[in-house]
Amino acid sequence: MQQPTLSPIVAGCMKWGQWGSGFTTGQYVNMISACADNGISSFDHADIYGDYSTEEEFGKALHQLPGLRNKIQLITKCGIKMPVASRPSFRIKSYNTSKEYIIECAERSLSNLHTDYIDAFLIHRPDPLMNPEEIAEAFTRLKQQGKILHAGVSNFTPSQTAMLHKYFPVEINQIEVSLLYMDPFHNGQLDQCQQEKIVPMAWSPLGGGQLLTDTTSERNKRIVTAAAALSDKYATNIENILLAFLHRHPSGIIPVLGTSKIERLQSAMAAAGLRLEAEEWFMLWEASAGKQVP
Ligand SMILES: NC(=O)c1ccc[n+]([C@@H]2O[C@H](COP(=O)([O-])OP(=O)(O)OC[C@H]3O[C@@H](n4cnc5c(N)ncnc54)[C@H](OP(=O)(O)O)[C@@H]3O)[C@@H](O)[C@H]2O)c1
Repeated sequence: MQQPTLSPIVAGCMKWGQWGSGFTTGQYVNMISACADNGISSFDHADIYGDYSTEEEFGKALHQLPGLRNKIQLITKCGIKMPVASRPSFRIKSYNTSKEYIIECAERSLSNLHTDYIDAFLIHRPDPLMNPEEIAEAFTRLKQQGKILHAGVSNFTPSQTAMLHKYFPVEINQIEVSLLYMDPFHNGQLDQCQQEKIVPMAWSPLGGGQLLTDTTSERNKRIVTAAAALSDKYATNIENILLAFLHRHPSGIIPVLGTSKIERLQSAMAAAGLRLEAEEWFMLWEASAGKQVP
């Protein structure tokens, strides 16, 4: 199994459109090309972003950048049904991971993104009603047709991933992990990624921005103080130390950075090679946990 090749920092597009910055097509064009010029070649989507509008807006911009498609990677997700104006038939928020729905979502994402293949296609959330054999059938069909190159999951526990992995080689698990959300270091998610060579992608790597913006929390203050000391040593900024904390883990965590500011993505990319010493990693761990390791 060849692992998906993603850039060391993935551009998270969740807040580029209607759920955040409300980019115009011109702004999408500028952002996509600036990312690509700076080595940020992977872009993270989900069908639901912007109430099902962001993929299409991004695709419209990508269409205006001929020659770029095969130099970038598009990741998208499916399986959440959100009752929004554009989906009047969805009565409540729910999940659907049936074979038909997965294939229907893939087809729609292909069309929205103006592409004939998706680099990585993920089940967005574990569905209590999921049938792993059915998901495997959908992924296998889409792969055979060349419509998706890699497939995986998001927010899956180790046992849910293992259940699907029995029928289909799961290649990615996109999970929440940061100095504000440390569970994956202890709950088996990252162990499993390392063991099975599943690529872990980290969503909200800066705690959704909270780590840097919420100065009232004692925990945040401890983390930022510890990161600031290291940022002096490495002549970088605090956010790059927070990302270096994730990069240092041997499972190969790839942060999905949610900024809509190119200068922030550029700066993060510049620091992607920064390698913390193990003791420095534990200083950050201690600041987050508020105690020493046992
Ligand atoms: N699989 C899932 O279930 C799931 C769930 C949530 C998110 N995601 C993915 O993960 C991506 C990232 O999520 P996130 O936005 O919560 O993560 P994040 O990267 O931790 O936070 C980004 C937010 O922090 C703000 N921010 C403040 N200071 C910043 C700085 N110095 N550098 C960078 N950002 C700063 C950004 O605002 P500015 O725009 O002003 O910089 C933005 O609102 C999403 O775009 C999406 O692709 C996946």
